[in-house]
Amino acid sequence: MIRLGVNIDHVATVRNARGSFHPDPFNIAKYVMRVGADSVTIHLREDRRHINDSDVQKICKNKYVKTNLEISLNKNILNIALKNKPNFICIVPEKRKEITTEGGINLKKNMNKIRKIISKFKKKKIRTSLFIDPNLKDIKIAKKLETDCIELHTGKISNLVKFNKNYKHEYNKIKKCCILAQKIGLEVHAGHGLDYKTAAILSKLKQIEEFNIGHFIIGEAILHGIKNTIKRFKKIINK
Ligand code: PXP
Repeated sequence: MIRLGVNIDHVATVRNARGSFHPDPFNIAKYVMRVGADSVTIHLREDRRHINDSDVQKICKNKYVKTNLEISLNKNILNIALKNKPNFICIVPEKRKEITTEGGINLKKNMNKIRKIISKFKKKKIRTSLFIDPNLKDIKIAKKLETDCIELHTGKISNLVKFNKNYKHEYNKIKKCCILAQKIGLEVHAGHGLDYKTAAILSKLKQIEEFNIGHFIIGEAILHGIKNTIKRFKKIINK
């Protein structure tokens, strides 16, 4: 079974719009696990624009919720992650003015830092992943850094598909990355900007073992409910 990780950051976005308590990402985390999600992804951003420290604490503490915490290289965020012991971490780049995570992390530039971070989490038996752009060089560096998994940034292919542009070149690039990653023993994940159509296209790549999807699920849930949306995605990625 290909796994679906549901990113619930934007549940917190809706809550924060009113500076209130509702909807509570903790309740949604438990609910999405109950209705078929394989894990819950949350991103504790340095500016706390959506998920906050208390959300991280509550969600990580619940044994029923398999938590995938996205973290930047920031020391403070790192310490919070180590303290809360999520099931999985994914290291992502972070820029202050970006609307969302716009690209993969620069592995070459941050090799030493990333190597140390990975080793700290591995000692705690926490699965590690690196969010990278689909290129072969980064796959090879990721292997050297001894990460368990890589997550391929699918933002570019998602935009090409959305705007009815030719996505073959990007698809082939992702395919080559998937093949190499699996060959050298890295677990392959994919995420960013995915909707039903792009998830269907990418699920042809049998090396991808996990999809992490957020914004589209939360948006679609307004009309169809989060349970139906998760069920439809699970069907699509396991076709
Ligand atoms: N995977 C990673 C590593 C991300 O940073 C994000 C966005 O926070 C996602 C998946 C989900 O992207 P989207 O919300 O566009 O589905």
